[in-house]
Amino acid sequence: MASRHLVLAVLEQHKGSYVSGQEIAQRLDITRAAVWRAIAELRKQGYDIEASTKIGYRLAADSDKLSSEGIMSVLPEGLAVDIRYHETIDSTNREAKRLALEGCVHGTVVVSGSQSGGRGRLGRSFYSPPDSGLYLSVVLRPDVASSFALRITSAAAVAVCRAIERHSDRKASIKWVNDIFMDGRKVCGILTEGVSGFESGRIESVVVGIGLNHTEPNGGFPDELTNIAGAVFSSDSTQKISRNQLAADILSCLFELLPQLSDDAFIEEYRQRSIVLGKTVRVMQGNVSYEAVATGITDDGSLVVKTPEGDENILGTGEISIRW
Ligand code: BTN
Repeated sequence: MASRHLVLAVLEQHKGSYVSGQEIAQRLDITRAAVWRAIAELRKQGYDIEASTKIGYRLAADSDKLSSEGIMSVLPEGLAVDIRYHETIDSTNREAKRLALEGCVHGTVVVSGSQSGGRGRLGRSFYSPPDSGLYLSVVLRPDVASSFALRITSAAAVAVCRAIERHSDRKASIKWVNDIFMDGRKVCGILTEGVSGFESGRIESVVVGIGLNHTEPNGGFPDELTNIAGAVFSSDSTQKISRNQLAADILSCLFELLPQLSDDAFIEEYRQRSIVLGKTVRVMQGNVSYEAVATGITDDGSLVVKTPEGDENILGTGEISIRW
């Protein structure tokens, strides 16, 4: 691994505090000149690193450059994930699916600072500008039946809400099936894609793609999103944490929930966080669209709606919009 990655890992571990050049050199078994060169390269990449001849180097406490080193430095110990960071990529889900097909391990995570072809549900695109968003896809190889697919998506939505609420006093809610809302605005979308073993009936691998607006993009959201999209933090919020920290929290909450997939407690939390229950919604399924009242969420994560005629429909897929 290049020295700059190793030096960055040390600086991220001590973010906001000075570490002497000698200590970094000793820890990494490299020369002080190599440390200096690595610092110069990192600065060129945009890292805000202060240097003091007496006390060493310090990565600014408010540094918000996304990196695998930055995420790893704040991940709970023992969480086995393999993070593949890209400054930009077409789609982290596409890359994660490619890695899954190549046989990558459970817990491989593709993270990017921006996406040129971010994908949303139902063939839509997902706006993925640099500097303000977090785009990550997790490859899971859960040992569960295909019927659990929707529960994985539901678990991911609950995990994102929990991660956000570790740092924000605003409530994170879920619009079925997996949009995260704060104060009536969508701050995160989740796209889960799976590969099933048709013979075994087990899920071979699942890619959970999470796209989150950490802060509002420079210059605001594009016109078509201004009335819909929001961000987890306002840029001057005192609660704002780095995207590395938020990514680490999402991963730790997700991996904490995965062993509980067959436990109904998290589905109850999903229901508690739902902003659709009890509301009149417009259901869109292919070319069919109708109004109904959302009356429940089943244990497998499907939405139950009641039509004005009194019919009860159970939706495993599709799209709803809320009539506020
Ligand atoms: C939606 O709101 O329709 C789902 C959006 C999912 C976007 C994320 S961003 C990371 C991952 N890579 C993608 O191309 N899509 C998902």
